[in-house]
Amino acid sequence: MVQKVVLVTGASSGIGLATCEYLSTRGYKVYGTSRKASENQVSKGIPILQLDLEDYASIQSAIGHLISKEGRIDALINNAGVGIAGAIEDCSPEDVEKVFRTNVFGVMECCRAAIPSMRAQGGGWIVNISSIAGEFGLPFRGVYCASKSALDLFSETLRMELKPANIRVSIVQPGDVRTNINSNRLLGARSTSEDSPHYHHFKKIYNEISDDVATAKDPEMVARIIWKILQLDKPRMRYPAASFIQRLSLSLNRVLPKHIFQGMLMRKYPVE
Ligand SMILES: NC(=O)c1ccc[n+]([C@@H]2O[C@H](COP(=O)([O-])OP(=O)(O)OC[C@H]3O[C@@H](n4cnc5c(N)ncnc54)[C@H](OP(=O)(O)O)[C@@H]3O)[C@@H](O)[C@H]2O)c1
Repeated sequence: MVQKVVLVTGASSGIGLATCEYLSTRGYKVYGTSRKASENQVSKGIPILQLDLEDYASIQSAIGHLISKEGRIDALINNAGVGIAGAIEDCSPEDVEKVFRTNVFGVMECCRAAIPSMRAQGGGWIVNISSIAGEFGLPFRGVYCASKSALDLFSETLRMELKPANIRVSIVQPGDVRTNINSNRLLGARSTSEDSPHYHHFKKIYNEISDDVATAKDPEMVARIIWKILQLDKPRMRYPAASFIQRLSLSLNRVLPKHIFQGMLMRKYPVE
């Protein structure tokens, strides 16, 4: 049987690294990416390609290289992404643009680079790593929520557009996962300044956000869900990868009146 070829973006840490390792032990030919990859880099047997989501030429070059080497790309796991914390009024336009270039525009470009090959070979899988924060706004994470929400909706469209080409599109919605996202997370330009009306409050909630990640589940939990999706001929649109409480919050958001759901969120993340 021909070995299936998978590209996982953001393979240098966290969910991407765990996914590369998990899929390669299950018989996939896995490629990873990192902005910092050196030429011909191989980590634990996995080739790592240089790719920066903010640089479209690097996206075309990495995916083009993989396709010319392997002759196909069976699955694209759009995992790379960046977090940001800070009240919307404390984030600068540059902060917002960087997050959208990374979490939305760059991911779209990865899809565009892989689709023609998947189409030509008769199908494939695109798995976009979103977040439970893509379904509802959270205090002090508005820019991140907006970027993941945009990712969710373009993925929904892509799923319909690519169905006739047998390219399955799904999103995975992690809750808190223990990765390096705390240290890599951007902070809104004014969020750590005493000039911000949110300064004291943000500090407290930010520590709570970081603690939730530091004590969360291992990223292999997400890798297993991604593997499961790749086994399915007809995967679902959405796969939560989160604790019971976080999965419950997704359901409550869908059924409760917004003011009740937001009241619950504001008890967890009080804004004064
Ligand atoms: N951890 C959580 O609690 C959580 C929850 C919900 C959703 N997620 C999502 O899960 C995905 C993975 O996050 P993680 O938690 O594993 O975070 P992480 O440990 O910080 O890893 C992020 C990865 O993304 C890559 N990356 C960042 N900016 C990039 C850019 N401009 N171009 C290319 N690659 C870039 C980094 O690679 P290099 O620095 O090597 O380039 C790194 O490998 C993200 O999309 C994140 O939003 C995470």
